[in-house]
Amino acid sequence: MKTYFILPLLAILAMPAFAAKMSIPIDTPKSYEAECASCHMAYPPSLLSRKNWQNIMSNLGKHFGTDASLDSKTQAEITQWLVKNAATRSKYSVFAPENRITKSSWFIHEHDEVRFDIWKRSGIKSPANCSACHIDATKGDFSEHNIRIPIK
Ligand code: HEC
Ligand code: HEC
Repeated sequence: MKTYFILPLLAILAMPAFAAKMSIPIDTPKSYEAECASCHMAYPPSLLSRKNWQNIMSNLGKHFGTDASLDSKTQAEITQWLVKNAATRSKYSVFAPENRITKSSWFIHEHDEVRFDIWKRSGIKSPANCSACHIDATKGDFSEHNIRIPIK
């Protein structure tokens, strides 16, 4: 009988650990890894709003100072998938300035303890380089218990 009481309690205790888990959905098209993870990591779709993803995908020719153009079939496939899996939790679904995860209010808030000069370290280079510090970022793990900031 006791397990009936313990199980819901365990579920509640486990929640904070899941809060920073943004797993890449299982229906991820192969094209996403192939086309969107060559210059940086494959960002979890759940970290940006639908509108932000639409903006990014409709302007790949001018993608943050580079050309990330795709053929129209691949572009449509990735867009559809990103929009379907875009942020739903209110915190992450707020429109992000410049279509950047790193300019969103939640990102700035979560990283306010990271000093300005730390972002410039050669082992990091950019706030967009999530996996420099979040060692399992590519698995969607952004837990505060799984961070190692490069010392230079
Ligand atoms: C040719 C290289 C290249 C390709 C291919 C590419 N990107 Fe990027 N992307 C960049 C660069 C460069 C930046 C800016 C990184 C920085 O500021 O450090 C960027 C930034 C981003 C950001 C914003 C990161 C932030 O600051 O929050 C998102 C989101 C993004 N890319 C999504 C995508 C998607 C989706 C695709 C696939 C359709 C893609 N990228 C393909 C080069 C690329
Ligand atoms: C310079 C290292 C660094 C980089 C690069 C970085 N982060 Fe972080 N991140 C941190 C630190 C430090 C925290 C605060 C952990 C804490 O609350 O103690 C954090 C917190 C977070 C949290 C909240 C974690 C939690 O448990 O509540 C998320 C989500 C997150 N980062 C996502 C990202 C994403 C997405 C990127 C890339 C676009 C990124 N971070 C880039 C260092 C970094």
